[in-house]
Parts: sequence; C-alpha cells; structure tokens
Amino acid sequence: MYSLVIRGGRPLEGEVTISGAKNAVLPILAATLLTREPCTLRRVPALSDVTFMMRILTALGAKVRAHGDAVTVEAGRVKGIATYDLVRKMRGSICVLGPLLGRLRDAKVSLPGGCVIGSRPIDLHLKGLRALGADVSIQQGYVRVRAPRLAGSEMFLGGRAGPTVLGTANVMMAAVLAEGVTTIQSAACEPEVVDLADFLNAMGARISGAGSPTITITGVGELHGVEHEVIPDRIEAATFAVAAAATRGEVTLRRCRPEHLHAVIDKLQEVGVRITHNRNSMTVRGDAALRSVDVTTQPYAGYPTDAQAQMMVLMTQAPGISLITERVFEARFMHVSELARLGADITIEGPTAIVKGATALSGAPVMASDLRASAALVIAGLVAEGQTTVKRIYHLDRGYEKIDEKLRRLGASVRRVRD
Ligand code: UD1
Repeated sequence: MYSLVIRGGRPLEGEVTISGAKNAVLPILAATLLTREPCTLRRVPALSDVTFMMRILTALGAKVRAHGDAVTVEAGRVKGIATYDLVRKMRGSICVLGPLLGRLRDAKVSLPGGCVIGSRPIDLHLKGLRALGADVSIQQGYVRVRAPRLAGSEMFLGGRAGPTVLGTANVMMAAVLAEGVTTIQSAACEPEVVDLADFLNAMGARISGAGSPTITITGVGELHGVEHEVIPDRIEAATFAVAAAATRGEVTLRRCRPEHLHAVIDKLQEVGVRITHNRNSMTVRGDAALRSVDVTTQPYAGYPTDAQAQMMVLMTQAPGISLITERVFEARFMHVSELARLGADITIEGPTAIVKGATALSGAPVMASDLRASAALVIAGLVAEGQTTVKRIYHLDRGYEKIDEKLRRLGASVRRVRD
C-alpha cells in the first residue's frame, strides 16, 4: 500500500489541467454494452475505478482496448452476469445493470461495495427497472432483473434524499431499447447524466430533457457505435480550487467547465476567495481574508456532497463558526476525526458539522477512509505545518488522476511512498 507524504505550508501556484470526469466515464463505459459496434471514449482519466470498470466489461465479454487517454470497447457478444469478485470494489459498477437488461433482457449483478458513506441502497434503481416491466429478485447477494419485454412507462425516481444519479443512469440505459416512451420524473440533473444522455443520443437513442428533473426517452430498435469525449471532472476542479484557496495560493484550472461549478464558485466567493473564469478555465486566488460560511450539500445544481469534505478543511482556516450540513449521504463525516488529529475543531450534531476556525493545523499521520475524505486530508496536509502522511491512498487513486504529480507541479511538496 502507498501513502502520500506531504510537507505543508506552501501556497499552490500555477496551472493544472483537469481530467475527464470519473462519474461521467463510468456509466458511459457501461453504456457501450448497448451496442455490438465499437465505441471510442476520449479523455478517459487514468483511475483505478476506470480500470475496474474496464475489467468488468472484459469479463462480460467485451473487447476493451486503452490507447493514450482513449478507450475503445467492442461488445460484440455479452453475457449477463457480473460476479461479486468483479463489482465489490466499486459502487459505480451497479450501472452495468441497466444496459445489460436493455441489451439481453436478463441480467444478474452482484450488489456492489464502494465508498463507506452511509447506507447506499439501490431501491430506486430497481423501482425504475420494475416500472419498465422487469421482474426483480435478490438472491445470495445478487440482483437479477428479467424482462422478456421492456415497455416504456412513467415513473417517479425521487427518494428520501432527492434524485439518484446512477439510478437515473440505469433506467435511462435500459429504457433506450424499450418499446415506447419512458418518462422519468424527479430525475437527477447532474452534468454526468447529461453527458450520458449525449453519448446515448449520439448512438442513436432518443432522449430529451436530460439536465432537468423530467427526462423523456423514446425507445429505439438498436444503437450504433460512436466516438465521444468525456466532460471534465467538476469535483476534481472543485478540489483544486479549494486547495488553492486553503493554501492561500493562486491556481488556474485549465480545461474545466465553470458552468458546472456555479454552487462551488458562489460559495468560494462568499468565503472571500477571488475567482475569475471564462468558458473553460478558471483562476482561483486565496490571498484575501477568509470568512466563515454555512454550506448545505444538495443534489445538482446545489453544493455537491463530493466537495463537502474539502470545503470543511477550508472552513478550519476561516475565523468564526461554519455549519456544514450533509443532506445527500448520511454519515459522510468520516474525515472529521482525522481532521481533528491535525488540530481542527469540529463537532458533529446530527447531519451538521460545526467547524470553529481559524485553527493552525499541524501535520500528523492520518488514514483515508473514502475517496473525497482522502482529498480533504490531502488539502489539510498542504495547509498544515510540518509533515502529514495520508495513508491508504488507494481511495484517492480511485478518483484523482495523478494527484501527487499535479500537486507537485503546483509547487507542493508531495511524495508517494510504499508503506
Ligand atoms: C453518485 C456519484 C457519487 C455522488 C452521488 C451524489 C457516481 C459513480 N457516483 O453516486 O460520487 O456522491 O452520486 O451526487 O456517479 N438512494 C436511495 N435509493 C437508491 C439510490 C440512492 O435512497 O436506490 C439515496 C442515497 O442513499 C443517497 C441519495 O439517494 O442518500 C443520492 O444517491 P445517488 O445519487 O444514487 O448516488 P450514486 O448515484 O450512487
């Protein structure tokens, strides 16, 4: 296992290029199962989650070839079983369920693992697939969906915490090959859902309304191969923006899409961070005084849960009290106890973390527990005096392409060491 050893106290300065979005590429890779023809994706980030998904596609029978930052998938023949060994490492693997049902009308997928951030049910995915006519059963850790005939229908996919991103993706991917018209009400509006719809439409699907809470899908007989460039990763961009602000640096994010980052930009500006941007780049300056703010995570276009932990680190540096409320995933505060080891003053009250700032952080060994918590610990390490060792960085490698190299290019002292 590897750790990151960080010597903190240096402002991040320079330019960083944002990679393709993990949460867009995973369902899009799954969607390549919907056609026999080859599909090529460009701007695919080199992440272990992407490698896992490529392995799953290969095990399902597809030919998968990586070349540079592109991946070509040709799913000539596909089988409908994804075993526990394949899917256990990554929650995102559940998004093969919809395309396998659409293509084969019969799929059996092991219930997935993934980040430990509260309970992560798939009841809404199954509700949507049932609405399309699938018979759903759960046996010995597998979910099996069968539908000799898939028929479009109207469904409501809102849950306790709002819409579901991968649930919306799964239903969309099954419905593109169903007979008739499907309408998803309370669909997730995330840019990654829009990217998937764009990909599917390029393949010949008929989807409208993606990016709004009502998505309409008119089923078609078959789909064909396409080339597609994945959208930039808004969470990676948010992470570097917060890191620039927290270290009081100045960083320009290249090849990002500020239009996907309104909630993050707005919050950072409220904190006192100066941001300028054009269509595909954004400069973040953290030299002014920081102010404490309250943050509540919400489905898109609200403040993203995947950037909550990072923002909490920034709030440890702002004088006053900040309330950070998590409304998407319960118990997504695993980073709090580790941040406390660096000197942060944070108390949890139900879904809210109360952050008292400004505190001087001092380096210590810390343990990463999930992907975004790990990113927060890295930012904290960049801010802290002295040396911070972030252990178990395999979580980071799931979702941040070459984060250590990118940080070094911004002037940070970061080393990857084997334990
Ligand atoms: C995706 C992202 C993840 C992000 C999350 C929310 C990927 C690979 N992962 O995860 O990084 O944090 O969106 O933006 O794209 N829920 C149910 N029943 C369901 C499904 C979800 O109750 O069937 C609940 C969840 O417990 C959670 C909320 O709905 O409280 C949102 O989850 P969801 O949008 O489904 O997250 P994912 O798609 O798994």
